[in-house]
Amino acid sequence: MMEQEKIEEILIPENQIKKRVEQLGNQISHDYKGKEIFCIGVLKGAAIFLADLARYIKVPLTIDFMAISSYGVSSESSGVVRILKDLDENIEDKAVLIVEDIVDTGLTLDYLLRMLQSRKPASLRTCALLNKIERRKLEVPVDYCGFEIPDKFVVGYGLDFNGLYRNIPYIFVLKSTYING
Ligand code: IMP
Ligand code: MG
Repeated sequence: MMEQEKIEEILIPENQIKKRVEQLGNQISHDYKGKEIFCIGVLKGAAIFLADLARYIKVPLTIDFMAISSYGVSSESSGVVRILKDLDENIEDKAVLIVEDIVDTGLTLDYLLRMLQSRKPASLRTCALLNKIERRKLEVPVDYCGFEIPDKFVVGYGLDFNGLYRNIPYIFVLKSTYING
C-alpha cells in the first residue's frame, strides 16, 4: 500500500490508534452522559479520526464540518486562518466538541475557539488525535488528546502532505527527501 522507502519511522501503528480512539470514545461517552454532542470536524484532516471516534461514542451526536485554511500546500504554518466552509447549523446552546487531527502551533484551534464561543454554545470542548506541545505558540485547551508527539512532521490517518497519505491507516514520519524535494 505504501512505498516503504518513504517511511522514516512509524510513530503510531494502526492497532494503537484503534485502542486509543476507543478509549477516547468511552471517556467522551462518560463525560457527556445524558447530553447530545454537536461534533465539529475540522476538514480535511480530522475526517478520518472523527469517523472512527464517532462510532465509539455511545451518546446521541450530530456531525458538522468546517474547513479552515492554515498551511496551504506546504508543511509550515502561515499563521493565516481563514474560514473556507462554515457550519451548516447553529450551535447556540449546544454541547459542542471540536475534533481536530493535530494541534501544532495552536493558531487554528485558538481562532476556532474564539469564533465558536461567540456563537454561544452551552459548552465548548476540544478533542485532538495528536498534540505537538513543543510547537505551541498560543496556549489552547485540548480536553481530549489521543497522543502527545514530538516535533516531527507526520502523515497518515487523515494527516497529509500535499494532500497525500490521508488514507494510510497508521501515523508515520515522511522521509525528509519527500518533504523538501
Ligand atoms: P496549528 O494551527 O499550527 O495548530 O496547525 C493545525 C493544523 O496544521 C492541523 O490541523 C494540520 O492540518 C496541520 N498540521 C500541523 N502539523 C502537522 C503534521 O505534522 N502533519 C500534517 N499536518 C499538520
Ligand atoms: Mg487540520
